[in-house]
Amino acid sequence: MTAAPMPDPGGLRERAASALIGARERTRLLTGCVDERELTAQHSPLMSPLVWDLGHIGNQEEQWLLRAVAGQEPLRPAIDSVYDAFEHPRAERPSLPLLTPKEARAYVADVRSRVLDVLDAAPAGGGGPLMESCFAFGMIAQHEQQHDETMLITHQLRRGPAALTAPEPPPAAPDTALLPAEILVEGGPFTMGTSTEPWALDNERPAHPCFVPSFFIDTLPVSNGAYLRFIQDGGYEDPRWWHPEGWDQVRRHSLAAPLFWRREGGTWTRRRFGVEEPVPEAEPVLHVSWYEAEAYAAWAGRRLPTEAEWEKAARHDPVSGRSLRYPWGDEDPTPEHANLGQRHLRPAPVGAYARGASRRGVRQLIGDVWEWTASDFLPYPGFRAFPYREYSEVFFGPGHKVLRGGSFAVDPVACRGTFRNWDLPVRRQIFSGFRTARDAEPA
Ligand code: AVJ
Ligand code: FE
Repeated sequence: MTAAPMPDPGGLRERAASALIGARERTRLLTGCVDERELTAQHSPLMSPLVWDLGHIGNQEEQWLLRAVAGQEPLRPAIDSVYDAFEHPRAERPSLPLLTPKEARAYVADVRSRVLDVLDAAPAGGGGPLMESCFAFGMIAQHEQQHDETMLITHQLRRGPAALTAPEPPPAAPDTALLPAEILVEGGPFTMGTSTEPWALDNERPAHPCFVPSFFIDTLPVSNGAYLRFIQDGGYEDPRWWHPEGWDQVRRHSLAAPLFWRREGGTWTRRRFGVEEPVPEAEPVLHVSWYEAEAYAAWAGRRLPTEAEWEKAARHDPVSGRSLRYPWGDEDPTPEHANLGQRHLRPAPVGAYARGASRRGVRQLIGDVWEWTASDFLPYPGFRAFPYREYSEVFFGPGHKVLRGGSFAVDPVACRGTFRNWDLPVRRQIFSGFRTARDAEPA
């Protein structure tokens, strides 16, 4: 006789299992398409060897789901320190006693098969806050997907012939001539953050009222074509547009264009996952730092949206006054709504995904490119670190700027209208772009 299945109210146990399995398929793709030497090599001092990410994925899963949730003993206690991101900065990870690719694969598979047993046997409610709504399982699926995006960045930085290919091309460029350039979001309060999304991470909580004065926001992300005009107008040669630290970065590194761009005679090309191609003018600009985004906005006579403005534009429904889970409503993203999950290995042209537009008509807030905001990464009122300070709390402060909306490399499990990402303002290897905003006179 087999045991009766555990109850699964809300289907969260089922969702957790498929989120974990989906993340592992992607991890396998990202670590299976290069040879052993490339798995252990460091492709950029900014990144870990891919085999470190693989071991770290398994080690976090073991620590949270086998030890914290299920109370099991460590499988390989000696490796915890090797895979601790705070003990070892990325630059020194190649010299650590890492598991070999073969050992790392065996380790993550061993952890996973035990985890699926724990999930099967876990009580649906109860089990403490880690098990509430299967949170710990959702958190670990998101963690693996976040490292999958990190590994995709490593693939983008890697030299040599392409290892990854996209299964399908993105949607074609639509006619954007009839869309308004910008959209008014009228002043007033809205609910920012969430207290009800079951797998929202600590920094997205709690839901709280936030008053946002009237502003205009771009209907579309800034395109390569628009960014080219900034370059051609001498944007990188004019300190007027730049934050002093951004100008310093431009001078020190002789920046003249987004990362991965190259001028060939009169035309710009870019390298994308090992392929050199003409810069597609209709796509959102990608691989720019916060300083570059800011400088472009200043040149255009505009500014970056604040994080609260971005979230209000993305979630506030002016009819009901409610904050939605996504720009289009409360349903989970489908391929008709947004470019997510590494499906196309590139952003879609600006104006795509009409079905993913917000209630006011702002497009591509979710997917395509992470969008820099003007804001520092700070806790919401009532923030409580959960389940560990090192996820969010240690990064709060003026050193990190918030990015919103998710890129083409983000999986839906790690993407919501409330999801917050952050990075240093100099970073440009990430899948970052932006849109601009401006103040509006109150009506
Ligand atoms: C939220 C993307 C900034 O990758 O540094 C992964 C996510 N935290 N492991 C990062 C994360 C711990 C984090 N970001
Ligand atoms: Fe991590």
